[in-house]
Amino acid sequence: MTCLREMHLDDLFKFNALVFDPFTEVYRLSFFLRHLAQWPDLALAAVSPDGQLAGFIFGKCLDGLRDHTELHGHVCALTVSSDYRRLGVASLLMNHFGHMLDLKNAWYVDLYLRCSNQAAYKLYCNLGYCLRRVLLEYYPGDPEEDAFDMRKPLSIDVERLTLALASRQSVRLPPDEDSDDDYS
Ligand SMILES: CC(C)(COP(=O)(O)OP(=O)(O)OC[C@H]1O[C@@H](n2cnc3c(N)ncnc32)[C@H](O)[C@@H]1OP(=O)(O)O)[C@@H](O)C(=O)NCCC(=O)NCCS
Repeated sequence: MTCLREMHLDDLFKFNALVFDPFTEVYRLSFFLRHLAQWPDLALAAVSPDGQLAGFIFGKCLDGLRDHTELHGHVCALTVSSDYRRLGVASLLMNHFGHMLDLKNAWYVDLYLRCSNQAAYKLYCNLGYCLRRVLLEYYPGDPEEDAFDMRKPLSIDVERLTLALASRQSVRLPPDEDSDDDYS
């Protein structure tokens, strides 16, 4: 049975096979180190019975003071090894991530994904995430790619107030606006 545990520093030496997936966002080593140090409970590994890394999730918890939002979580990276897909591993990681944020009294979880990533879009819809807006040309590249900005209210938000501004509109983030993601 696959089990979840916090990520360890030496997991960073084992996850090459997972991050080579074209839909897995790859960050600098400093990003992962900062996350492990600052939000250790929000960096989770799924480990198979033989000790293989089956998947991981990296995220953070933000107080919302900077952008005048409520306390919330943000998923920065989620990936599952191709050998372990369609077994519920991503759902397990996402649900546990949401549970950890519930314990912090966070209001919602949000995340961005490439508009072409149909598997992830279905996964997040299945888990109750709602499309909030489209971020035009969010992902650099040639061509650049738009991102879906999705959000799920957590237990504290009984009336789903944090979805009130979900317009599904397309917006372009100003260059100086920190997007809540560490994508670069
Ligand atoms: C997207 C991804 C994380 C899904 O992981 P997973 O462990 O296979 O997902 P789950 O088994 O929990 O799937 C739950 C549901 O999501 C949907 N889903 C998942 N993968 C799907 C796929 N390839 N096609 C269609 N629907 C899919 C299904 O509804 C599935 O339920 P079902 O298997 O009962 O039909 C995985 O494919 C992956 O790592 N992709 C590459 C990295 C990536 O895209 N990360 C997300 C970036 S935002």
